[in-house]
Amino acid sequence: MIIAPSLLAADFGYLARETKRASASGADWLHLDIMDGHFVQNISFGPSVVATVRPYSKLFFDIHLMCSKPEILLEPFAKAGAAQMNIHVELGDRVPDLLWKVRSLGKKVGLAINPPTSISHVQPYLERIDSLLIMTVNPGFGGQAFIYETLPKIEQAWHWRAQKNLNFNIGVDGGVDFKTVADCAHAGADTFIAGTHLFNLRSMKAGVKKMRKIAQENAPIFEASAPPVPTV
Ligand code: DX5
Ligand code: ZN
Repeated sequence: MIIAPSLLAADFGYLARETKRASASGADWLHLDIMDGHFVQNISFGPSVVATVRPYSKLFFDIHLMCSKPEILLEPFAKAGAAQMNIHVELGDRVPDLLWKVRSLGKKVGLAINPPTSISHVQPYLERIDSLLIMTVNPGFGGQAFIYETLPKIEQAWHWRAQKNLNFNIGVDGGVDFKTVADCAHAGADTFIAGTHLFNLRSMKAGVKKMRKIAQENAPIFEASAPPVPTV
């Protein structure tokens, strides 16, 4: 189980301190949302901010590129300290080149998918990714309500992974809290991105511990508790 606080929900006036707080929480990854004001209707931060907070944490930096032209950003974020970079499957026929470019920079390869996009679009890429990021809100803003209609996509990804004997992470991003983490884990997710919920807690450490426990308790570890085969 991977728990990844999302820095988008941090107090931007104290980014270094917030990065340290996430780092000391027992979390596994730090998720960093990059928004370009074009792929999504919001702008967050760029490589210089990532490089600024990098020395304050040893966590695996998971960069989520909600950007129309990730090709111009991959190298800067690789240099800024990315461990993994997620690009969006909605970029269509540019996806294969982008995945290859991330790999060639020596970084882990992530593929993200928006709620309205059919899960079938990621199927051709499953053999070449380390992580699948299933958006459980429409990207652009933190603090949105979880979209339950995305759960069958998690189940489908879980079944494809088992059938093909692959081992990419199945991540969920958006509206993840102590309730929805159970639903996602039950559907087959193993990587949980949580911004608002974890950063708003007085003790992120206790929150991470609790989220991990709920995820573990709801995971489909045994054959009998496998998620249903979805009809998507
Ligand atoms: C949404 C971002 C998410 C966001 C999640 O566009 O990709 O990573 O930070 O935030 P919460 O947990 O607040 O929904
Ligand atoms: Zn994200």
